[in-house]
Amino acid sequence: MTTFTPVQSGDSKSDTSRLRRLYGQYPTGVAAVCALREGQPVGIVATTFTPVSMDPALVSICVQHTSTTWPKLSQEAHLGVSVLASTHETACRQIAAKNVDRFAGISWFSSDSNAVFLAEAAAWLDCRISTSISTGDHDLVILEVNSAAVNDTTQPLVFHDSRFRTLTTSEEGA
Ligand SMILES: Cc1cc2nc3c(=O)[nH]c(=O)nc-3n(C[C@H](O)[C@H](O)[C@H](O)COP(=O)(O)O)c2cc1C
Repeated sequence: MTTFTPVQSGDSKSDTSRLRRLYGQYPTGVAAVCALREGQPVGIVATTFTPVSMDPALVSICVQHTSTTWPKLSQEAHLGVSVLASTHETACRQIAAKNVDRFAGISWFSSDSNAVFLAEAAAWLDCRISTSISTGDHDLVILEVNSAAVNDTTQPLVFHDSRFRTLTTSEEGA
């Protein structure tokens, strides 16, 4: 029989690692959210990227309150969201790393709106912040999608159970 246990036991360290493992069972893509700030690219990666609405076109990300980059990024008028491709594993780790040049050796481009995108991504969305809601230890940020492009020549990067993975297609199809 499956045994359910409380997610908040009082030991916050073990609660956090159990919750991380629990949430990690839900496979996601990975997005890079980047913009030019004083001429330099800044960004974070987020597995919390989620499509929200078709009309108007809205997507969301959740940003941890401890992020030191988000307070800078969120001041920019436009943010570039790149849906990372399977070839972006190293770039993903680098853009999430502390105390490194996050964009060193990474191929990127910017739009006239100063949104920054990774080259060879699976899709690109030029967004503006619509609403931000502080909830728990994250901000739930709703982004309005102003323009976008899809790259049919790549496979998306997948994150599951704290590992990067790639997609395979079912033999049977949909
Ligand atoms: C695979 C992966 C997914 C991540 N997803 C998120 C996310 O959804 N939200 C978030 O706030 N940080 C996420 N991060 C962490 C940020 O990319 C970044 O490392 C963090 O904000 C700390 O850097 P900062 O202080 O420069 O913001 C993720 C990191 C990795 C490696």
